[in-house]
Amino acid sequence: MTATRTPAKHFAPLAIGAPEPFRALPVRLERMIHFVPPHNAKIQAKLGEMIPKVDVILGNLEDAIPADQKEAARHGFIKMARDNDFGSTGLWTRINCLNSPWVLDDIIEIVSNVGDKLDVVMLPKVEGPWDIHYLDQLLAQLEARHAVAKPILIHAILETAEGVKNVEAIAAASPRMHGMSLGPADLAASRGMKTTRVGGGHPDYAVLADPGADAAAPRAAYQQDLWHYTVGKMVDACLAYGLKPFYGPFGDFADLAACESQFRNAFLQGCLGAWSLHPSQIEIAKRVFSPDASEVAFAKRILEAMPDGTGAVMIDGKMQDDATWKQAKVIVDLARVVAAKDAEMAAVYGL
Ligand code: GLV
Ligand code: MG
Repeated sequence: MTATRTPAKHFAPLAIGAPEPFRALPVRLERMIHFVPPHNAKIQAKLGEMIPKVDVILGNLEDAIPADQKEAARHGFIKMARDNDFGSTGLWTRINCLNSPWVLDDIIEIVSNVGDKLDVVMLPKVEGPWDIHYLDQLLAQLEARHAVAKPILIHAILETAEGVKNVEAIAAASPRMHGMSLGPADLAASRGMKTTRVGGGHPDYAVLADPGADAAAPRAAYQQDLWHYTVGKMVDACLAYGLKPFYGPFGDFADLAACESQFRNAFLQGCLGAWSLHPSQIEIAKRVFSPDASEVAFAKRILEAMPDGTGAVMIDGKMQDDATWKQAKVIVDLARVVAAKDAEMAAVYGL
């Protein structure tokens, strides 16, 4: 049997003077995690405009940042954190992975300079709970040293075969866990999948319809979702531990329809957001991860028809009971979180 901490120790700070871990995640709207390269001067100049348009801004230090720009990206992130007021928009960073030469300085320099402004550290290539424990302890020591008042959360990227195997232990590893994102590009490589894409489907991953009476007639092929299994496994692990699951990146910026479809499948399966790597993906994520107005209206009717959430009623010929009441509550609760941040959506929902 694997040894785990007692419940009391699990919720105790890991360093004297570090803040108490959260017992439940703060309620925040995180429909899109918008990635920016922090060493880019043009991006820095436009941040003031960008911040109110997104739910989360993430300064990326890992993949896509060239090796000779790693320090510039780290310093750029510290500058962007200092120079801007983020309001209700989350401030995250994706640090380099734990076996890289940059990560120790990423963590030490960022927490010591702007630890009080940082909401979440995204940790790539997490393979097991040991990776979370290491970062958890180090963050606690640095929070204590620099008198950071609010615990910095950890968001794991699920992007190795070993990480997927250990997903439940990763979710359970610490009260500092915020959630997880699917990392389809690294995961494809780690698993030996035969693709060259960042997320989305593949035309060859399809089921062929049975032959009809005319054996020579062409047979339909139905493309399947390559990520269905992993997203389902990640959603179960996250929700079992009160964490938030996310779809990750979609690399074909020109194919807005495919991006929307992939995000929507993830939303319907339980995910709360996705990454936006290009400004065009911000609107897609906003649309997909805000519940549909007609679904919200129907969900409100269910809640109104069953004030205490028990029994059974018929609405428009459809049976409703305690379980559909709970589904309706998920949708209306999310709509309220969206409405609190987004006045336009508040009007659409009538909330
Ligand atoms: C994201 O980091 C990915 O590898 O897909
Ligand atoms: Mg990756």
